[in-house]
Amino acid sequence: MCGIVGYVGCKEATPVLINTLKKLEYRGYDSAGIAVMNDDEILVRKAKGALKVLEEMVVKEVIKGSIGIGHTRWATHGEPSDINAHPHTNVSGSIAIVHNGIVENYAKLKEQLQAQGIVFKSQTDTEVIAHLVNFFYEQTNDIFEAVKLALKKLEGSYALGVICKDYPDRIIAARKDSPLIVGLGKGENFIASDVPAVLEYTREVYFLDQKELAVVYSDHVDLFTEDGEKIIKEPFHVDWDMASAEKGGYAHFMLKEIYEQPKALRDTLHPRLVLEGNKPVDIKFDEMDFSSIFKNVERIIITACGTAYHAGVAARYIFEEFARVPVVVDVASEFRYRNPIISNKDVVIIISQSGETADTLAALRLAKEAGAQVVAITNCVGSTASREADKVIYTWAGPEIAVASTKAYTTQLMCLCLLALKMAYSRNTISKPEYEKLLSSLNEVPEKVEQVLKDQSIVQKFASQNFNKSKVFYIGRLIDSASSLESALKLKEVSYMHSEAFAAGELKHGPIALIDTDTLVVGIATQKALYEKINSNMEEVKSRGAATLIIGQGDTSVFNGSADTVITVPETEGMFAAIVSIIPVQLFAYYCSVLKGNNPDKPRNLAKSVTVE
Ligand code: F6R
Repeated sequence: MCGIVGYVGCKEATPVLINTLKKLEYRGYDSAGIAVMNDDEILVRKAKGALKVLEEMVVKEVIKGSIGIGHTRWATHGEPSDINAHPHTNVSGSIAIVHNGIVENYAKLKEQLQAQGIVFKSQTDTEVIAHLVNFFYEQTNDIFEAVKLALKKLEGSYALGVICKDYPDRIIAARKDSPLIVGLGKGENFIASDVPAVLEYTREVYFLDQKELAVVYSDHVDLFTEDGEKIIKEPFHVDWDMASAEKGGYAHFMLKEIYEQPKALRDTLHPRLVLEGNKPVDIKFDEMDFSSIFKNVERIIITACGTAYHAGVAARYIFEEFARVPVVVDVASEFRYRNPIISNKDVVIIISQSGETADTLAALRLAKEAGAQVVAITNCVGSTASREADKVIYTWAGPEIAVASTKAYTTQLMCLCLLALKMAYSRNTISKPEYEKLLSSLNEVPEKVEQVLKDQSIVQKFASQNFNKSKVFYIGRLIDSASSLESALKLKEVSYMHSEAFAAGELKHGPIALIDTDTLVVGIATQKALYEKINSNMEEVKSRGAATLIIGQGDTSVFNGSADTVITVPETEGMFAAIVSIIPVQLFAYYCSVLKGNNPDKPRNLAKSVTVE
C-alpha cells in the first residue's frame, strides 16, 4: 500500500531513490515520484504510471543532489494522476513529503487549512500533512518540532519521509500503523517501507516502532518518541540472501515463488522437528514455550485477511481434527468491528505474511486488550505483528515479492499443522505413535510438492484450453473447501477471470443456477471418504454443460465419468494434502494470467501489503 524511500549520503540521490523504489513496486504502482534537495531548492519529479515512466523522465532530465525522498503509489484518496502522485509539498515548495497510510481526518484538516487561504493542488489526504507541517514550521522555525506537532493532529496511519530546504542535511521520518525502517550505511543512511529496498546497500536496519520518529543524517540517525524523547535501540542485522529478492531466471516472481515452495516448506519445517536418527519424534518452536497456552486454551480464534485468512479456514479443520479444540475463524476486517467475545481462555492466532496488514494488527491489539494470548504467524522478522504478539512462529519462506501470495500460504499451513500437532500431543488428544506417524507424513510434504512441480505440463495445457472460460467455480468439502476459497482468490487476482468458491454441498442450494457451457468447475478432492459425494456434484455440473477438472490424490478412478481432466497429486495424509493440492491451482492461475497477457506479479488494483483499512 504505497512504498516510501529516502536517501541521505554522498552519492547522487536520484538513482538510489529509483533503485530502492524498484524493490517496493509491489506495494503500489499507479504513479511514482521523487523530491531531491538541489542546492537551495527542492526539485520534485512525479508521473502517473509505473515507475519506469518516472525513471525515463529523470534519466532525460537529471536532478543533482544527495538527499531525497521517493514514493510509489497505490491510490486511496484521489485517482492515479501526475498531480496526485507523491511527493507533496507546501505552497512554497520548501517542504516535501512522502506518505504511506491514510489520514482519516484529512477532510476536517483540509477545511481548516483552506480557511487560512491555502490552495490545495491534489485530491490526496497526504497534501494536508505538507501544509500542516508548514503551518507548525512557521510557528516554531524548527522542522523536527513542526513534524512532531503535525503528527499529533493526524488521525489514521502514516509512514512519512519529510525534507525541508532549510535543513539540507537530514530526512525526518515517522511511523504509526504503517511500516518504516531506517537502513544504516557507511556515510549514508536510508528510509524505506520494507527491508528489500535497502538490502543492496546495507544489512543493518532499525525497525521503527509505533509513533517513533527518526532524524536521518548521512553519518548518524537519532530516534525519538512521539514526545521528542531520545530512544536508543540496537540495529537489526538482516541475513537474507539478496538472490531471494531477485527473479533468478524465472519469467515472474510468482512462478519463482511457486517453485520455491519445497525449499520454503523445508526451511519452515526442519528447524522445528526433533529427530531421533532420521525419524521426527517431536516439535520445538524456536525455543518458544507454548505449554501454558496449550494447557489453558478453551477456544482458538483465528483471524487474518485474504490468503492468510484462507490458511486460517483450513487450519480450523486441522486443529479440530487433532487437538479437539473448538476454532472460530474470521476475517480481521470483520472481527475488529463486531465486538467479538474474547476471554483469557482464548488463544488468538493471527496470520500475516507481511505482519503489517492494518486490519490484522487491529485484531491483534483487540485480542491482547481482551486478555487473550496472541500467537502471530508471520513471514517478516521485525514486523509489527512479530513485535506485538505474545508468541511468534515464523514462516521461513524468504521474501515474497509477487503480489499474489503462494509460498507464504503453504508455509502458513505448515506452521499451523505444526502448532496443531504439538497442541494435540500436549493435550493428549493424539497418542505418541499417532504423533510420530503424523510427523513423518508432514515431513514428506515438501518432497510431494516437489513432485507436483516436476510435472506441471498438464496444468499448463489445461490452462491453455480453459483460460477463456467466463466463469470458474472451485468446489470442495471440508478442508478442500478452504483450498477452493484460496484457489478462486488466486485465479481472480492474477487472471481477472470471474471465479468463486463453494462448499460442494452448497451447489444445489443456489450456485448451480449459474452453470452453463461457458463454466469451468474445478473439484478439489483429497478426502477419500467424500469422493463419492464430490463425484455426484461433478456429475451434476457436467450434465449441465460445464467443463470439469478434478484435483485428487490416490485412486481417482471414481471421477473418470465426471471429470474431463484429472490431475492426481501424490497421496498425502488427509489434513496435510491441502499443502500439496494447492500447487496445481496456483500454477493454473499463473498460466491463465500469462495467457491473458497480464503481469501476474503486479495485478491491477492490488498491492502487496495492505497497511490501510
Ligand atoms: C492474495 C494476497 C492477499 C494477502 C492479504 C493479507 O494473494 O496476497 O490476500 O494474503 O492482503 O496479507 P498479509 O498476509 O500480509 O497480512
